[in-house]
Amino acid sequence: MQSKLVLAGIAAAAVVAVALAQEPTKSVWDGVYTEDQAKQGQGYYNSECASCHGDQLNGGEMAPPLAGGEFLSNWNGITVGDLFERIRTGMPPSDPGKVGREPKAAIVAYMLQMNKFPAGSAALASDTESLKQIKIEMIKPDKK
Ligand code: HEC
Repeated sequence: MQSKLVLAGIAAAAVVAVALAQEPTKSVWDGVYTEDQAKQGQGYYNSECASCHGDQLNGGEMAPPLAGGEFLSNWNGITVGDLFERIRTGMPPSDPGKVGREPKAAIVAYMLQMNKFPAGSAALASDTESLKQIKIEMIKPDKK
């Protein structure tokens, strides 16, 4: 009798866990990177990305801006994990493997800073699954 209840409980918990795994639990407004990390990212950005995307992330002749309204409206409602994957698999276009995961996470931290999202006390992770938990929200949401 009891064990059936326990099993039902486990099944219900599993359903909840699956639902949670799909919906991002954090926002870029939650302080998801550190100042130090963004500073490191700035160094990598300047050597690997700025030639095309501009030293203020304002875009260049060919490459789109990586900060500001146009960029944010492209990515609004998507996750930091998706942005990271876009960069991990596609940037710089000639050789995406040239810059590793950790430096790319630092670059994303710098991009968040340049888009005026607040820094926090923990660094941005460099695994896609964790980053998919963080939603890009152009407008700061009302208190949850
Ligand atoms: C040789 C020039 C060049 C370099 C270097 C480069 N990019 Fe790009 N990037 C582009 C171009 C062109 C596009 C637009 C076409 C496309 O999406 O492939 C783009 C698109 C992007 C996008 C998608 C923007 C959007 O709103 O859809 C991101 C993000 C990005 N680049 C990040 C980076 C990062 C980070 C680096 C450095 C690691 C980098 N890029 C290096 C040329 C470059």
